[in-house]
Amino acid sequence: MKIYAVKDYDAMSKKAAEILAAKLILKPNAVLGLATGSTPVGTYKNLIDMNSKGLIDFSQVKSVNLDEYVGLTGDHDQSYRYFMNTNLFDHVNIDKANTNVPSGIAADTAAECARYDKVIADMGGVDIQVLGIGNNGHIGFNEPDSVFTRGTHIVELTQGTRDANARFFASIDDVPTKAITMGVANIMFADTILLLASGEAKAQAVYDTVMGSITPNVPASILQLHKNVIIVADEAALKLIPASMKN
Ligand code: PGA
Repeated sequence: MKIYAVKDYDAMSKKAAEILAAKLILKPNAVLGLATGSTPVGTYKNLIDMNSKGLIDFSQVKSVNLDEYVGLTGDHDQSYRYFMNTNLFDHVNIDKANTNVPSGIAADTAAECARYDKVIADMGGVDIQVLGIGNNGHIGFNEPDSVFTRGTHIVELTQGTRDANARFFASIDDVPTKAITMGVANIMFADTILLLASGEAKAQAVYDTVMGSITPNVPASILQLHKNVIIVADEAALKLIPASMKN
């Protein structure tokens, strides 16, 4: 794992965007694995800025998102499809037909999971996968569990995750109880993984991910087995990581 220690959220966002931009310059038809949440918003703002200045081009880019809430339509303002449209896709020259978010409203959820696995496979896999990390070490919505789940699947959200995300909803009762998420194998097959973390609330999860046992109890800990993980995190999120491990 290569760990870039940066000062704060803005520096994390800038560095992450530079890494993604470099990928797009080297491979204009890259497949981007994208994430939602507060963490990547600044990264996406930087990418929008670079795109508006003509420094990067999304015209040949394809994307797959990690997850979606079950029960929310793509036009619900808390759905992850809506998040991606408003935080990135509406503001860059990407063809929305090339963007993929799992459906949260499929009647046949098993078929939707299989379809999404096939979408990823048909693209030839993900070139660079952006990840946030949950306070409990989740990646995508792979919550702490007794097993690692390989492919796209339906998960029951933990109370902690629902509490953490309640800030975006009118009340905790409005936070969905289930989500559809890529599995850890989908994530691990990405060529490069770009994990972002900001703030002290993430410090324990980052420590467990980098220094702890590889266990489905901390889903992100499986990233220790990936050959090409870049962590960009700020001082607060890296506060438990020894200085010798930071770039
Ligand atoms: P956050 O969520 O970016 O809103 O902190 C990260 C996550 O839960 O994966």
